[in-house]
Amino acid sequence: MSEAGSGVRLVVLASGNGSNLQAVLDASASVVAVFSDNGEAFALDRARRSGVPAIAAPFEKGRSRSAYDAALADAVAAYEPDYVLLLGWMRILSAAFLSRFPGMVVNLHPALPGMFPGTRAIGRSLDAYRAGRIEKTGVMTHFVPDEGVDSGPVIAVSDVMILPEDDLASLEARVHETEHRLIVETVMSLVREYERRG
Ligand code: GAR
Repeated sequence: MSEAGSGVRLVVLASGNGSNLQAVLDASASVVAVFSDNGEAFALDRARRSGVPAIAAPFEKGRSRSAYDAALADAVAAYEPDYVLLLGWMRILSAAFLSRFPGMVVNLHPALPGMFPGTRAIGRSLDAYRAGRIEKTGVMTHFVPDEGVDSGPVIAVSDVMILPEDDLASLEARVHETEHRLIVETVMSLVREYERRG
């Protein structure tokens, strides 16, 4: 990806390890801030190491979901993003957040469209394969128009074969490798779209 001249501003929301954030940081200088609902998330360390603002935004008990989402939207908007990337973000965002960034929120999910929404998608794919219900899995990126879980207009998809000898660790490794490639390809396509719009 060309770092120079793209000018696109990406804000990343990540709850955990942040390996997909790392793939984007390695490929592009476009990440302007990283937020996490988990103050201990390694994703925040990865951001700091890259000199990117890392903001912990824990959900405080007793607060309403919409109040949290509205405050998060205010904090994200301060970085003037062109796109908001959900890379291992484990909270469902309500309209209080999404209405502030129409057509701008992109999610990565470790399964094919319509398959295994929510958590533990890779483990559930392996279980389904072993039960003879599926032959392959995959990863996808998609826009997030509403509160649907891991659903919305698809941007990119990549298949991942499941092998008879796979265990969870080997399948996870292949899925993550595929995700790291797909998220960078997706960011490149978003940059092209941003540049086309001028
Ligand atoms: C990734 O596999 C991502 O697709 C998944 O969380 C993982 C985060 O890994 N997201 C979901 O399951 C969303 N439903 P990372 O923190 O190493 O990027």
